[in-house]
Order: sequence, then C-alpha cells, then structure tokens
Amino acid sequence: MSLFYSFALIALPFLSGCDGYFHHTQRECHFTSGDLKDLEFIDRYVFNKDEYIRYNSTLKKFIGFTEHGVRNAERWNQDGFSDQAYGNLDGYCRPNSELELQNILGHSVEPLVKVKSVKSGSQRHSTMLVCSAYNFYPEGIKLTWLRDGKEVKTDVTSTEELYDGDWYYQIHSYLELTPTSGETIACKVEHSSFSEPKVFKWDPSTLDGERNKVIIGASGLVLGLILSLAGVIYYKKKSTGRILVPTS
Ligand SMILES: *[C@@H]1O[C@H](CO)[C@@H](O)[C@H](O)[C@H]1NC(C)=O
Repeated sequence: MSLFYSFALIALPFLSGCDGYFHHTQRECHFTSGDLKDLEFIDRYVFNKDEYIRYNSTLKKFIGFTEHGVRNAERWNQDGFSDQAYGNLDGYCRPNSELELQNILGHSVEPLVKVKSVKSGSQRHSTMLVCSAYNFYPEGIKLTWLRDGKEVKTDVTSTEELYDGDWYYQIHSYLELTPTSGETIACKVEHSSFSEPKVFKWDPSTLDGERNKVIIGASGLVLGLILSLAGVIYYKKKSTGRILVPTS
C-alpha cells in the first residue's frame, strides 16, 4: 500500500493582460506503511506548472531545477532554512499522517452484496450467476462460490477489484453452471469489515420472477388485443345501424 496526500498551501495568481500566472507551493507527506517508518516531507515550489525548487526531507535539503531554482536552493540550504523545513517532518507530517491513518485508513466499510443470474454466453451451461460486491473499503476482498457448501473452482471468472474513484471498490465474480433442483448456490464474501465470512445465497425464484413478469406482460397484451378487437367489432355493428340515408 502506498499512500500520499498533498495540500496546496499558497496560491498567488499574478494577473497581467489576459493571461494569468500561477504560483503555488505544495506540501506532501509520503509513507508506505502504517508505522510511518519511511515518512517523507516534500515541499514543492511551482510556477506555471514548472517545479523550480523542492525540499526533500530524506535528502535534508532543497534542490533546484532551474537556474534561478538552483541558486535559491543553495542559498536556502546555506541560510539554515533546510533545518526549519526538516522540522515539518515531525511537526506537520507525523501528526497529520497519524490522524489520517486512524480516521480514514483505519476504517472499513462493508460491501453491498448481490447474487443474481445473468444471460449465459456459453453453450455448455444454461445459467450464469454473478456475485457483485459494491462500495467496500479498503481494497482486499475474496469471493468464493459454494455449491451445497462446497467450494467451486471451475467455470469461475472474476473482475479485478475495481476502484470507483471515491475511495470505494467493487468486484464481480461470475459462475457458469447448469443448476440442479434442490441444490443451494451461494457466494461467500471475506472482507476486513466482516468479523467472519458472510454467505449470500442465490435465490432462483428471482429467475422465475423475471419469467413471470414476461408471462404476465404477454397475457396482458393478449387480453388487451382481444378487448380492443371486441370493441372495434361492437362499434362497427352499432354504427352501421345509425347511418342516415337521406330521402328525396
Ligand atoms: C527524496 O529523496 C529520496 C532519496 O534520494 C528519494 O528516494 C525520493 O524519491 C525523493 N522524493 C521525491 C518526492 O523526490
């Protein structure tokens, strides 16, 4: 796990004519483990997307990337600004990173799990089931298919853990099978938000439910057609008797 966060600290737009100029500094705290062993403080000085000076707490000094940047970095290092900047490692990064670890990274969110059938693409099997886990955090989940309690390994495919872009993840596991009556098929989910694995059963009646909807819809359509046909016939019969025939 690699973590990184940054804050834009100062933004000073200098306006001249129609074009804008943009200066900003960005403070970053980098760490890859919960014990903050490799914590690093980075302070970037950027003018119009061009980084010209960077403080790096691992190097314990400022480094310049342009002629003007190199000159100023040297001066800042000599003037003792680098010691001051190093103070941010423990003064700024450590307390903030500890808070982030506790309040965000220490949390976990349970997945919302759905097991349903989808159209099967294969000729060998009649049914394809999908077990979907949505909105879980953090990354790291295991989905296992169970047929009458026994793990199924063949005809299983899965997506990666997909990042939603809002800290949450989703994953979908597919099982192709020809169900036999009476057996139970379930999806076992293991995630750090659960104290023990949770099992979600597939309810085959949802498949029948879909079929029933089609049957009800079709019956409604047929009934409607019969009634409207009857209505048209009735109207025609009635109206023929009503046509007025003018007399001389
Ligand atoms: C800071 O310096 C260390 C040591 O050279 C280097 O490994 C690291 O990548 C640097 N970090 C940045 C963000 O430049």
